[in-house]
Amino acid sequence: MAVDLKTADELKKMRVAGRLAAEVLEMIEPYVVAGITTEELNQICHDYMVDIQKVIPAPLNYHGFPKSICTSVNQVICHGIPSEKKVLKNGDIVNLDITVIKDGYFGDTSKMFGIGDVPYHAQRLMETTRIALSKAIEIIKPGTRLGDIGHVIQQYAESNHYSVVREYCGHGIGTEFHTDPQILHFGRPDTGMVLKEGMTFTIEPMLNAGKPHTKLKKDGWTVETRDGRLSAQWEHTLAVTADGVEVLTARNEENF
Ligand code: MF3
Ligand code: CO
Ligand code: CO
Repeated sequence: MAVDLKTADELKKMRVAGRLAAEVLEMIEPYVVAGITTEELNQICHDYMVDIQKVIPAPLNYHGFPKSICTSVNQVICHGIPSEKKVLKNGDIVNLDITVIKDGYFGDTSKMFGIGDVPYHAQRLMETTRIALSKAIEIIKPGTRLGDIGHVIQQYAESNHYSVVREYCGHGIGTEFHTDPQILHFGRPDTGMVLKEGMTFTIEPMLNAGKPHTKLKKDGWTVETRDGRLSAQWEHTLAVTADGVEVLTARNEENF
């Protein structure tokens, strides 16, 4: 499995794409409220990306995906399809996953939003998943191994009595959406590929309140928990630097 290392020039373009993807999540925040449909969120993001940012929404037509963003509500783990029939309601949790292409380079990031008064157990699931991602990011530097990343996430998730989704993973990213290596969100320390300066990939853990098992809906895209319980996901695009990591999709609200 060949993993390409980005040059300084390529990293510059990855930085631009990553920042633009993050800015879509910052832009959409005030709209993510009770009463809006996931299709309306898709349309607002699409118009912002195409008309203002001059980027290509990567999901649109990707292997036939019909929309410009993914919207995954409550028991939906990932790849939820925006729909005019899906109205967000008080207490829902939703992941918005944004991927842009700018100047040939991809930036991929997602975060959770709570709608109105979210029950404590759902807040805690979202927050634990966010922290699992940040703990994984913290250990990244040349020499860290992929098993170390998986282990940190699995350890933190399971110590909080959540399960880690196995069938979907993070991925290398650059001039293509999904490349090697696969970034598993579970694993054993000191195993797997050794990270090198210039690698770019996503980490995007999905944690379930119940069992880890997934079910693909008949639309061919929407992935749900088999037991119908809640799921949460956060995602960043990262670059391994000489002595650590750069979060290419960091938002202003974060302090990486
Ligand atoms: N953005 C997703 C990821 O994190 C992939 C979405 S593919 C789509 O890898 F076709 F569903 F949009
Ligand atoms: Co991704
Ligand atoms: Co994504």
